[in-house]
Amino acid sequence: MSDQPGPRPGMHRNWLSLAGMVLAGSSFFAFLLLMAFDLFSKRGHPYLGLLTYVVSPAFLLLGVVLIALGQWLQRRHERHTHPGAAHMVLTIDLARPRDRKLLAGFVACTVAFLFVTALGSYETYHHTESVQFCGQACHVPMEPQFVTYQHSSHARVACVECHVGSGAGAYVKTKINGVRQLACMVLGNFDRPIHAPHNRMRTAQETCEQCHWPQKFTGNVERTYQRFLADETNTAYTVRLLLNVGGGDPAHGPVGGIHWHMNLANKVEFVTADERGTTIPWVRLTSANGEITEFRSPDFKGAATNASLRTMSCLDCHNRPAHRFRSPNDAVDLALATGRLDASMNWAKSNVVAALIQPYQTEGEAVQKIAATLRGAYPNHPKADALVAEAQNIYRANFFPGMKADWRAYPEHLSHKDWAGCFRCHDGQHKTADGKRTLKASDCNSCHVILAQGSGADLQKLNAKGHDFFHVDAPYSDFDCHKCHTGAFPK
Ligand code: HEC
Ligand code: HEC
Ligand code: HEC
Ligand code: HEC
Ligand code: HEC
Ligand code: HEC
Repeated sequence: MSDQPGPRPGMHRNWLSLAGMVLAGSSFFAFLLLMAFDLFSKRGHPYLGLLTYVVSPAFLLLGVVLIALGQWLQRRHERHTHPGAAHMVLTIDLARPRDRKLLAGFVACTVAFLFVTALGSYETYHHTESVQFCGQACHVPMEPQFVTYQHSSHARVACVECHVGSGAGAYVKTKINGVRQLACMVLGNFDRPIHAPHNRMRTAQETCEQCHWPQKFTGNVERTYQRFLADETNTAYTVRLLLNVGGGDPAHGPVGGIHWHMNLANKVEFVTADERGTTIPWVRLTSANGEITEFRSPDFKGAATNASLRTMSCLDCHNRPAHRFRSPNDAVDLALATGRLDASMNWAKSNVVAALIQPYQTEGEAVQKIAATLRGAYPNHPKADALVAEAQNIYRANFFPGMKADWRAYPEHLSHKDWAGCFRCHDGQHKTADGKRTLKASDCNSCHVILAQGSGADLQKLNAKGHDFFHVDAPYSDFDCHKCHTGAFPK
């Protein structure tokens, strides 16, 4: 019976083409819709570009591949079951005007689509390099770094200038890393606080030295430290230092001072006892004339292996150029010095610092409890509201309880008061094995001179040779600063 329907054509295989058609159709629709969003939204959302120009075209392509695959399988099946039967074959006859028009239309649409996709992906590439993308796409884990970055001296330098190398290789590497980080973020599986592993950070040569010229001779720099005691009257306690920053290149100035360690004429290598680099028990100096000197702290018995060696660079002093979490002492001193906190309110420094450092679980809780504590300390005081508001601002800018990120998590090596910093090496204890030579620059006047100290008229009495350090009335023995000064009152 020839008019009886033959066996059903390989519909199950056709499902594949059908699914492909649905997929291609819907991703094309999604593409159009997303593109419209992207064009009309004022500020691109971090992931919109990625979805529009990368993800949806990828699905569209997958759809087309499925359609073709389905067709091919079906044809193969039919050839197998009905050998010799005539099959629909796609033929394009350029002699036919209709075919010509269709083909031209098809080619034009494809070219236009590819063009828009390419342009969009390029834009997306740029966007994933932007500060918004880095700081906000991962807003939970990176918020502390994003906030501190915005009030750093590098707030106009894009994250990628310091964190991503240039060139396609570096781009792919960071994006792969980014996908991993994204997965960790979705799973909530990241360290709190996060740290940049030192061996994976880009070197100072690749980052800092692209903008800062290591040969530069800086000479002397004057800095004023406006401090306040934690006493009833918030006694002002100012120190004016003349820092001998100097330089490291003989062509541009005498080699010496703090920037002597630029590795231009000399090379300094060291090992650290911990990942954060807060203890340095062994140092090796290679001078311009090739002479090698090793210094070690008295308790270091081991030997340095080449694998653990680090060569000193900008980052071993300026390790927080973009993400400084101010210590409560620092932040409150700054607010008092600039009048944002009123120094005439009794115990202001002491009370605000104490309110800031309590163990809070969330920012909400902190802000509320800081207000309650400080209002309790200044009942009916006309300026209590202003004090509370400023204390809360300080908290929001420098404390991130969700990420356990604050000054305690991120030591800064540039100074020696709250962290060992320079005294990791210059503590007068690092000596050669025979004990005959101590590492230089281990007295108070080798890095800076105290031009003036105190308050009022005393601050005008400059002494170019340097005053002796006058330390409140508490005793201190030279290199112990950070054992008492922890960033939140001396212990
Ligand atoms: C001027 C260079 C510079 C810029 C710009 C910069 N960073 Fe960093 N960043 C660093 C350095 C240096 C470290 C390592 C600090 C250390 O080891 O103590 C770091 C560390 C980090 C860390 C690890 C946690 C930490 O605080 O140590 C994160 C996360 C981070 N940066 C994110 C960002 C983001 C997001 C941006 C842009 C909003 C950005 N960075 C911009 C230099 C920079
Ligand atoms: C894209 C260029 C760029 C890069 C990369 C860069 N800086 Fe800077 N840096 C600047 C500019 C511009 C300033 C001056 C900012 C100002 O004074 O307004 C500056 C200022 C500074 C200052 C003086 C201000 C201060 O905070 O005391 C230091 C120190 C510094 N940079 C260190 C670094 C270190 C360390 C790195 C590498 C981690 C680095 N910079 C990477 C452009 C850059
Ligand atoms: C031994 C530690 C150390 C090293 C290494 C170091 N610096 Fe500095 N640098 C300092 C200190 C200390 C100051 C002065 C204090 C300050 O600026 O608050 C300073 C000041 C600066 C300044 C500001 C100068 C000014 O005119 O105000 C810049 C910019 C700077 N350093 C960049 C660099 C760069 C770039 C490198 C690496 C090539 C580097 N430093 C290496 C310790 C160091
Ligand atoms: C990794 C160890 C290390 C750290 C950290 C370090 N230095 Fe040095 N510094 C050295 C070595 C080594 C010398 C050479 C000492 C010698 O020749 O006896 C030196 C020399 C100096 C000199 C004398 C340069 C000259 O004119 O001869 C000064 C000043 C100095 N350092 C300042 C600083 C300051 C400021 C800091 C902190 C911001 C610091 N150093 C951090 C290792 C270090
Ligand atoms: C190895 C170099 C070096 C030596 C030695 C050194 N200092 Fe400093 N000192 C620094 C640097 C660098 C800073 C801070 C620079 C900055 O914050 O930008 C500093 C900052 C200070 C400050 C201001 C601290 C603040 O934040 O209020 C005082 C005070 C001070 N030093 C006293 C001393 C005394 C006292 C000695 C001797 C026991 C001494 N220093 C030895 C490098 C040194
Ligand atoms: C034995 C503990 C101890 C040591 C060590 C010590 N200090 Fe202090 N320091 C104090 C005390 C206590 C105060 C008074 C704090 C107050 O009233 O706020 C103080 C106050 C200060 C102040 C003014 C207020 C402030 O908080 O900034 C400066 C600056 C200072 N010390 C610098 C140093 C330096 C630099 C060193 C190391 C050379 C050092 N101190 C070593 C205990 C110490």
